[in-house]
Amino acid sequence: MSTKTTIDRLCEHVGQSVTLQGWVHKTRSSGKIAFVIVRDGTGLCQCVIEKNEHTEPFFETATHLSQETALEIAGTVRADERAVGGHELDTIGLAVIHAAQDYPITPKPHGIDFLLKQRHLWFRSERQYRILRIRHTLVNAIRSFFNDNGYILIDTPIFSPSAGEGTSTLFAVDYFGEPVYLAQTGQLYVEAACLAHRKVYCFGPTFRAEKSKTRRHLTEFWMVEPEIAYAYLDDVIGVAEDFICSVVQRVLSQHRADLVELGRDLAPLEAIRKPFCRLTYDEAVEILHGPKARELLEADLTQKNARIAELIAQIEQLTETQRTAKKKWQQEKAAQDIQAAREERAELEEQVANIPHHIELAANFQWGSDLGGSDETIISRLHDRPVFVTHYPKEVKAFYMRIDRTNPKRVENFDMLAPEGFGEVIGGSAREEDYDRLLERIREDGLPQEPYEWYLDLRRYGSVPHGGFGLGVERTLAWLCSLKHIRETIPYPRMMGKIYP
Ligand code: 4AD
Ligand code: MG
Repeated sequence: MSTKTTIDRLCEHVGQSVTLQGWVHKTRSSGKIAFVIVRDGTGLCQCVIEKNEHTEPFFETATHLSQETALEIAGTVRADERAVGGHELDTIGLAVIHAAQDYPITPKPHGIDFLLKQRHLWFRSERQYRILRIRHTLVNAIRSFFNDNGYILIDTPIFSPSAGEGTSTLFAVDYFGEPVYLAQTGQLYVEAACLAHRKVYCFGPTFRAEKSKTRRHLTEFWMVEPEIAYAYLDDVIGVAEDFICSVVQRVLSQHRADLVELGRDLAPLEAIRKPFCRLTYDEAVEILHGPKARELLEADLTQKNARIAELIAQIEQLTETQRTAKKKWQQEKAAQDIQAAREERAELEEQVANIPHHIELAANFQWGSDLGGSDETIISRLHDRPVFVTHYPKEVKAFYMRIDRTNPKRVENFDMLAPEGFGEVIGGSAREEDYDRLLERIREDGLPQEPYEWYLDLRRYGSVPHGGFGLGVERTLAWLCSLKHIRETIPYPRMMGKIYP
């Protein structure tokens, strides 16, 4: 009699016979022995099937299993340090539940456009499996931080009558004949709630009609937004600092192996400690204009060009190998390596082509404009910890940010830039608590007053200094996993031109 179990619990069953329910990940067989690597949603396990009288009834089937065939497989658990997951199964029974035919995602490399169209199947690939598990932990860590520190969860609406973050990225929907918008933020609503519960947060999907395709922008993303009554800018920055340390620690402690498998260097994450760096916007501009920014990008140029030359030589050599290799597998291996080298080369060439432009953008940065993606990258790469950039010019920031009383051209805000060039993952501020100033900002931004009357009420009845921030889950995950592009960080990415599956 064999017990049903899952791969993550095989350690409890060493020496016993168990049944696994899973899918065929990979197979390999010679005349006398077959190896089936099974995945069951909790891990991978190699099942060994030797040809003998016990395995006779299913040996033939085992040698012809196609990728992603669903099966039940029974066997005796053996601990083996060298095996994936640390255990192997000496197989004594096998039943096919569903034979998969021509699974489209094979072990050979596929282009990203193809994989995105196969997102519903791509989930099963090892890399995607790991990324979404880390996302799960990140989301849990976010919730725990706020729940454990006295914040009350306030769910905010997705249908909104007004803009929260500028009118250029609104998605309009028809609400019984009236135009309303998908929420860009829950902030205005948690501001009201913090005056009732003191410390609150919302956590949900937010929508922005981002009309450009970048590696940092989705049209639908998840954001957590804490809001605190009786808090000043420094208090809010302090919370952001503790919060980031807490979630980084949690992800590191639960996913070391996953991160390493994703190719993530752990050292920069291990270095995340308080205090983070702080710069004012003015200081950031000075850095962009200074020699360090230029030197950094010029060094990139040299280094990337050298790598391109290396790749060109490699491709030539591999092409020769492919031509002369005797064995078919050697030719196939060479073809795969050529493809990988070509992809890396194309990517580097694109980056190299952009560097002179980025040097120029930084050198000619005008006081009063918003930091661009490449500017943020420079500033974050010049620091080995997250950087808070504070006190932006009010023109480039949202109407609700508190005017700096010592310099009314600026607002009391901060963006937190993640290290290693990942750029902004948090945006936050103190909120304007003064009725007259807030109304003036609403008017300056050309917003209609009427939909904000309820928001103005918060400044009519018991207004206090308060503030908060928003952290984007996907950008944070891209940073933690060191992913170049945000599209792999969410189960079903939504970007301009991308809505399927
Ligand atoms: O800086 P943002 O626009 O700030 C707000 O929405 C404020 N209401 C937050 C607050 O103070 N309560 O966005 C906050 C974060 C960004 O730092 C980024 O991580 C993420 O949300 N974000 C995006 N992530 C993916 N795709 C996009 N298009 C994003 N826009 C913002
Ligand atoms: Mg922002």
